[in-house]
Amino acid sequence: MTRTGSEAAPVLEVRDLCLSFGAIQVARNISFDLSSGDRLALIGPNGAGKTTLINMLTGALKPSSGSARLAGRNLLALKPHERVRAGLGRTYQITSLFRAMTVFENLFIAVSERLGTARNFWRPAWSRGEVCAEVERILETVSLSDVGGERVSDLPYGRQRLVELGLALALRPKVLLLDEPAAGIPHREAEVVQQAVDQLPPDIAVILVEHDMDLVFRFAREILVLVEGAVLRQGTPDEIAADPEVKRIYLGSAA
Ligand SMILES: Nc1ncnc2c1ncn2[C@@H]1O[C@H](COP(=O)(O)OP(=O)(O)OP(=O)(O)O)[C@@H](O)[C@H]1O
Ligand SMILES: [Mg+2]
Repeated sequence: MTRTGSEAAPVLEVRDLCLSFGAIQVARNISFDLSSGDRLALIGPNGAGKTTLINMLTGALKPSSGSARLAGRNLLALKPHERVRAGLGRTYQITSLFRAMTVFENLFIAVSERLGTARNFWRPAWSRGEVCAEVERILETVSLSDVGGERVSDLPYGRQRLVELGLALALRPKVLLLDEPAAGIPHREAEVVQQAVDQLPPDIAVILVEHDMDLVFRFAREILVLVEGAVLRQGTPDEIAADPEVKRIYLGSAA
């Protein structure tokens, strides 16, 4: 089943992705489209294949068949870092070296990298002032303006996740993949991450994997339900909430 969340040309086109681990089929003909600004929540029981799908898109896993196009390019032919450069954003855990630097420094490097100034030191195409202005905008987007000067390692976990989100945004992704962004952090801190997800720039297409149904229904304009590696349903939050089979298989058990 294929649907476009909006009328614009899709930025991500996924067709018939399949993958097996031995005898277990973890992805069965997964197809969907995503357009700029879409907010797609990916839901389904544990082991349904949500993370597997994300990993096939990032390049961590290679599908056995199917296709994926990002802004018209053959995504599956690209290496993981080329996919990032092509506009496929995801968050990474910040390594210890970068955790010792301030939030601002981390974002400064990321923005500079994107603009090419880091390597073209003598003849920067962009001024330091412009990079700083963009860093300030990102800090505002992820609600970190008040801690730009602090070391990442000194921040609570929730806010470290926001830095990771900011770093993903610094690369100006067309599509952003978020796999349980608030997982593993205390409930009190999770809220800041969830708020940041709600406030992501409207032009980016976002895929959010999330188990918390309150968050899913707050975030999503379209929901894709995966069960045993296959798309059970795709629809608006209202359609999914009213779907008897989704209720029986997933929402029922979650409630
Ligand atoms: N490297 C692997 N080798 C073999 N099987 C794997 C591997 N990674 C995942 N699986 C299996 O693939 C299936 C899908 O797992 P996946 O992690 O994608 O589920 P998920 O929907 O993300 O679940 P959760 O909600 O718990 O995060 C599961 O049956 C899992 O056991
Ligand atoms: Mg998962």
